[in-house]
Amino acid sequence: MRFSINGEEMDRSSFWVKDWKIILLDQRRLPSETVLVELSDLDEYVDAIKTLAIRGAPAIGAFGGCAYALCLRQGCDPSDAYNRLLNSRPTAVDLRNCLDEVKLAYEKEGIQSSILKAAEIVEGTIWSCRIIGKIGEELIHEGARVMTHCNAGALATLNWGTALAPIRIAHREGRNIFVWVSETRPLLQGSRLTAWELSQEGIPHRVVVDSACGYLMRKGEVDLVIVGADRVCVNGDFANKIGTYGKAVIAKELGIPFYVAFPETTFDGDCACGDDIPIEERGEEEVLEIGGNRVSPDGSEAFNPAFDVTPGKYVTGYITENGILDRGELLKKTPGPTPQRSEK
Ligand code: MRU
Repeated sequence: MRFSINGEEMDRSSFWVKDWKIILLDQRRLPSETVLVELSDLDEYVDAIKTLAIRGAPAIGAFGGCAYALCLRQGCDPSDAYNRLLNSRPTAVDLRNCLDEVKLAYEKEGIQSSILKAAEIVEGTIWSCRIIGKIGEELIHEGARVMTHCNAGALATLNWGTALAPIRIAHREGRNIFVWVSETRPLLQGSRLTAWELSQEGIPHRVVVDSACGYLMRKGEVDLVIVGADRVCVNGDFANKIGTYGKAVIAKELGIPFYVAFPETTFDGDCACGDDIPIEERGEEEVLEIGGNRVSPDGSEAFNPAFDVTPGKYVTGYITENGILDRGELLKKTPGPTPQRSEK
């Protein structure tokens, strides 16, 4: 991912480790400011996840794995560090999957091994997203108009993205494509982050309010929808940013293909169906305020679920590093990386 900080061009991931500290591009401040922050202890790692300085399922998984290994190296209490990181956000299973991998490496072979495992997760995430992009780009024909929701790009992973990886690769291969970006209330991951990534790459796009998406689909302006996921269940149900479910239902009603792109770390082989996914509820000020200014009357309350669950019956295909799968193929081809699970 290319960006510039104080005039200096950089080609970096959403975060990286330097001198045993984590450096990340602060996603709370994009697109108006590109600012790097340096994090060096457990409080800072947990705060970065909770406040969405780092966000997106694969990114918080890899970040959590690295943060945990660094905490172990600093001599933190292993179970305290594990639990605090795990509980920082509940919905994206990547966090649990990656923490479990690092924990297992630590318990078997010590700190050095946990650090190597964290580095392996980082490399694996980049590789998986690259493959997802290569596999998924065949769905995006010349002239295609793709709709996406939230940000499932390089910021939400480490490079490439999941839903944005096929789009990025189709564009780089010279195809003339167009992206509808739904703005993603309340925190605007679509209009702030996805539009920023597409602008950096010169990919034609327009931002629309979330409630315009059905109108666009009905007008015949959308050829396919591709979204990311925070947790994919054994039966194909999946959680993603609030607003995904409605788009999937409308797409099915209108016969528009609807794809979900995700790496193995987002698959939860212990989760039978969508009803079992914990859905994060965030503070009501995110809904009641815009840019720090209150927009609802004093005394009005808000409800702010960060994710919804889309039943697998609405999904045309799951774009993974193992191919474009249907519901029946999910469990067979996506056993997931959780060490405890593979031992079962
Ligand atoms: O609350 P966020 O911004 O972390 O939500 C992120 C999403 O819902 C993404 O679509 C999902 O994590 C997939 S990221 C490749």
